[in-house]
Amino acid sequence: MTNLNRLSSGIPLLDKKLQGGYPEGEALLITGEPGTGKTIFGIQFLHSACLNGKKCVMLATEETPEKILVHAKILGFDLAPYIVNKQLSIMHLLEMRAADSGVSIGENHPLPINIDDLNNFSHLIADDIEIVVIDNMGTCSIGMELRTFRDKLETLLYLLSKQKRTSIIIMDDTAHEYTHRVAEYSTYGTIRLKVKENPYTGKMERFMYVPKMRGTRISLDLINYDISDEGIALLAFHGKKDKPNC
Ligand SMILES: Nc1ncnc2c1ncn2[C@@H]1O[C@H](COP(=O)(O)OP(=O)(O)OP(=O)(O)O)[C@@H](O)[C@H]1O
Ligand SMILES: [Mg+2]
Repeated sequence: MTNLNRLSSGIPLLDKKLQGGYPEGEALLITGEPGTGKTIFGIQFLHSACLNGKKCVMLATEETPEKILVHAKILGFDLAPYIVNKQLSIMHLLEMRAADSGVSIGENHPLPINIDDLNNFSHLIADDIEIVVIDNMGTCSIGMELRTFRDKLETLLYLLSKQKRTSIIIMDDTAHEYTHRVAEYSTYGTIRLKVKENPYTGKMERFMYVPKMRGTRISLDLINYDISDEGIALLAFHGKKDKPNC
């Protein structure tokens, strides 16, 4: 059997659980409630990809690039040098939409296209980009017919995959439920982030669940994780930090 090429998620123990990392050239979905760490997932992947010399783009619908860079740096993932050397760009879709609608906010991104249209996302991404993080796709589904959303998402995912870009599509739980989780069918794999009570400790803790990862042997067990000053790290089930090489 030919093994899939993998790219590090930026979370060492998650890579181990995914037989080396995210499948290269494919699109993965990350879903979760507010504050579960979806954006940090994106940040850690981008940082790791930049370290490995990849050209990356983040399409941000909510947070500004400035805030994303600040939050990344606080967690020890300094993305600013990669912006400077043009390995990474962060596009703020809200700002671009304002520019598109004629509101003057500077000379960035004068766009002749409708950026709210998912079909146009691929036009925003330069040809040499290898890594794409979209945060948050849920924003783009608001007010859209389910069928239309699914068609547009499938077209976008088809284009990203044809262009061999490794993509992380982040989607908030509310939009994900509202769209009947259709995004899970179209993507290559899904990671769901949750906060729930750990029956062993009686405390609310963070868990991730990987219901699907094509071409990858996965465990369906809940994976306990935490967010600390060093970002997201997987924990042993009873809350102890796992040793990287065990
Ligand atoms: N240094 C830190 N130590 C502990 N937890 C932290 C730290 N920095 C961030 N966090 C946690 O990460 C959470 C934010 O993560 P993130 O922004 O990735 O969430 P999100 O799922 O993208 O949320 P949203 O749906 O609002 O976009 C915070 O609510 C906080 O609990
Ligand atoms: Mg977020």
